[in-house]
Amino acid sequence: MDFPELIEQARAVRERAYAPYSKFAVGAALLTATGRVFTGCNVENLSFGLTTCAERNAVFAAVAAGERQFRKIAIVSDSKTPVSPCGACRQVLAEFGMELEICSANLQGQRFQAGLDELLPRASEGILGT
Ligand code: THU
Repeated sequence: MDFPELIEQARAVRERAYAPYSKFAVGAALLTATGRVFTGCNVENLSFGLTTCAERNAVFAAVAAGERQFRKIAIVSDSKTPVSPCGACRQVLAEFGMELEICSANLQGQRFQAGLDELLPRASEGILGT
């Protein structure tokens, strides 16, 4: 599956984002090695700190369904330039392998594409003696 289809799914799930505080809705669609797609949207909370990004919610849905190998993730937001995943999401994505292509798009159709290894170099080096 290519990024245009994943972007379409991310765009659709973005409509379900719960973002009453920031008003910044984000959708993500994650493609697994088995060809399945899991989507997520951001879910905010009054305490702010408990907010979870679209990307992490997509990963958690995939893991709960038994998937741990990921190939691509598309992210959609309504922003001047496409958003780049936050540090926490990069680290959570890195948990399941660095060979992940990330494509972020805004509603105007601008795109940003990068490998996870570019966005989070040396992700787990040294942790727990690795
Ligand atoms: N957000 C995401 O869901 N993904 C990103 O890549 C950037 C930020 C959410 C978190 C919060 O609900 C809102 O966007 C503003 O930061």
